[in-house]
Amino acid sequence: MADAIVAKGLIKTYGTVKAVDGLDLNVPEGTVLGLLGPNGAGKTTTVRMLTTLVTPTAGEISVRGIDVLADPTSVRRVIGVSGQYAAVDEHLTGFENLEMVGRLYHLGKKRARARARELLERFDLTEAADRPSKTYSGGMRRRLDLAGALVAAPPILFLDEPTTGLDPRSRIGMWDVLGQLVREGTTLLLTTQYLEEADELAEDIIVIDHGRAIARGTPDRLKRQVGGERLEITLHSADDASAVVAAVATLGMGGHTVDEVSHKVVVPVAEGTDALFEAVRRLDAAGIRPADLGVHRPTLDDVFLQLTGHAAEDADEEVKR
Ligand SMILES: Nc1ncnc2c1ncn2[C@@H]1O[C@H](COP(=O)(O)OP(=O)(O)OP(=O)(O)O)[C@@H](O)[C@H]1O
Ligand SMILES: [Mg+2]
Repeated sequence: MADAIVAKGLIKTYGTVKAVDGLDLNVPEGTVLGLLGPNGAGKTTTVRMLTTLVTPTAGEISVRGIDVLADPTSVRRVIGVSGQYAAVDEHLTGFENLEMVGRLYHLGKKRARARARELLERFDLTEAADRPSKTYSGGMRRRLDLAGALVAAPPILFLDEPTTGLDPRSRIGMWDVLGQLVREGTTLLLTTQYLEEADELAEDIIVIDHGRAIARGTPDRLKRQVGGERLEITLHSADDASAVVAAVATLGMGGHTVDEVSHKVVVPVAEGTDALFEAVRRLDAAGIRPADLGVHRPTLDDVFLQLTGHAAEDADEEVKR
């Protein structure tokens, strides 16, 4: 499969800050790459370089075989970009925003209007189409902004934190829309701070910290690296610990820990939901009612802790210190 996006040795420095510090990446046509990293990791800077908005200090980028530095205009014809902060004109309605984008792409008035209506429908904004977008909620703005990036039906899409700030329901709605686009053949590069989101959408993930890749692989590989899912059972009293371990240890993949202080039994499991369901049955049968019971799924913090030995920190805070 040909690569839709290739970047080699990407560097961007701002004064003494190395926002991006030697990043290599490639995204095969029709696939999804997730750039996962905490605040200040260099995600936005990377996206801006890949999308012709910022000139790299060093490095090479090609999109569909076109050199981004030599021919940014041709690259802009095949990409769509939705930035970290929704770029909608507050005073225009949703419909007018999309129509305007269509006109900028020289779609012609009729086509631009038809495309605007089609996208509003697709993003569930038809009812709000004629309201000024300043009356939209955060999730609606995000959807409108994404719709804007799709007006010209670009085969390659860059999304910078598409779901940050959305409530859980809107996030799942956004995942559905993005999944659909990918099934239709769109190549997608997205940034996120959520391992869960990269897991849901991407087949390949690069974890970045301080502008450098610190890990790369499939979501499964990363999750295995950080220990995967685990069942956590908090007890009212340490007295129950051995009975709990006897009941649930075999649900795991071998190995469990008992925290004497918090009265917490932790069992690494292959599939959290199944294990949780079975654990409830077994604990109930054993007459044990825990104080708390749940599945812990690895987060970006777990990844960082495992890979770097420290929690994900805000690079901007560090600079200020
Ligand atoms: N125009 C700029 N001038 C100076 N420093 C910048 C500029 N843009 C980014 N930086 C710095 O580069 C680093 C990476 O920033 P970037 O915005 O790429 O991070 P990010 O991963 O997108 O973070 P966030 O999750 O907060 O959006 C930060 O330390 C930031 O302060
Ligand atoms: Mg950013």
